Amino acid sequence: MLEGKNVVLGVCGSIAAYKSALLVRLLIKAGARVQVVMTPDATNFITPLTLSTLSKNPVLTDYFIPETGEWNNHVELGLWADFIIIAPASANTLAKMANGLTDNLLTAVYLSAKCPVYFAPAMDLDMWKHPSTTENAATLQSFGNIMIAPRNGELASGLHGEGRMAEPEEIIAFLSADIKKKLPLTDIKALVTAGPTYEAIDPVRFIGNHSSGKMGFAIADELALLGADVTLVSGPSAQVSKQRLIKRIDVTTAAEMLEACRQHFTMAKVCIMSAAVSDYAPVTIATQKIKKHEAGLTIETKKTTDILKFLGDNKHDGQLLVGFALETDNEEANAIEKLKKKNLDFIVLNSLGDAGAGFKTDTNKITIIDRDLQKTTFDLKSKEDVAKDICQKVIALIKR
Ligand code: CTP
Repeated sequence: MLEGKNVVLGVCGSIAAYKSALLVRLLIKAGARVQVVMTPDATNFITPLTLSTLSKNPVLTDYFIPETGEWNNHVELGLWADFIIIAPASANTLAKMANGLTDNLLTAVYLSAKCPVYFAPAMDLDMWKHPSTTENAATLQSFGNIMIAPRNGELASGLHGEGRMAEPEEIIAFLSADIKKKLPLTDIKALVTAGPTYEAIDPVRFIGNHSSGKMGFAIADELALLGADVTLVSGPSAQVSKQRLIKRIDVTTAAEMLEACRQHFTMAKVCIMSAAVSDYAPVTIATQKIKKHEAGLTIETKKTTDILKFLGDNKHDGQLLVGFALETDNEEANAIEKLKKKNLDFIVLNSLGDAGAGFKTDTNKITIIDRDLQKTTFDLKSKEDVAKDICQKVIALIKR
């Protein structure tokens, strides 16, 4: 859930600041990019050097950089962050943020941010219980901020009670669960196909195509980012998924791809078939390398099963089935015919006639046509952005 996220970690002056080092490590390990912003007082508890080394990023503490005469742009930082976590959050910083004070960089970043802000308070039990702190925490929550409540236990003062900052592992688990629950495709299982298939002719040759798998991998990544539980069935492809939680099944032939889809189809609520499946396979596969003949070579082929049509014929209520149509002529008419014949919810049309669209490229230009024949044409975009458009259509049509 934290993979690829931009995180501002705010560290305040509290003995619990030693736990921030582990928190940074866990955020980085989970794939987040971390920018630490410390209040001036926090540097008395843990050195910026420790946190900058762990976060692989210089730590920010001041508005101004005296050496260069520049300033740290709190507005940019606030907008860069996907979320802010203030851990430890001291009583002082809670009070300032509840009242809109901006006397240091961290408070200014907070006030400039539009993203979710989490607080993991840490203080002595009487400070936490004080009506002013209670009120400040409630005020911050009323602004939409999220409190990760302090735990009960031994405190730095020697007293025992509520006020210990949640452990870094607990904070990570809280953040992951909270982000996941807000995603539009959480708990949705998705099945995606990508890449070409190879149909063997003999031990060294095959019938295949130029598909790179880029589009399907981008769709799988985007679905996973939106919270879906993704199974990606890929033909031979050099692509690597960015999202670690994607379950990848490697196949070579159309028959293997069909079998993998059969196994995962019933459980999947969303199925996006973007693979360029070979329509034909040799009737027999020569066991030895076929030798050259003067007279030329004829290979007898048979049709492979149309996986998408098979899924369309067996689709159950509430399942969303999406196919692709790569066309060179009569594009829309052909795409609509495929949409109907294969019982799809929508089809993604790309034309080889459009520059920058189709196989191998990093870009694509698509038109989406749905069951009501509503048509949306998009500009030429990166395949990542095309995947976003496709997934937004999925979100619009999915029945929860
Ligand atoms: N498809 C499939 N199994 C096949 C052939 C195609 O699942 N054996 C799927 C593709 O993944 C794609 C859609 O069907 O989502 C359309 O593929 P395309 O090659 O454009 O069309 P075909 O149905 O194969 O028809 P034609 O090649 O005649 O255009």
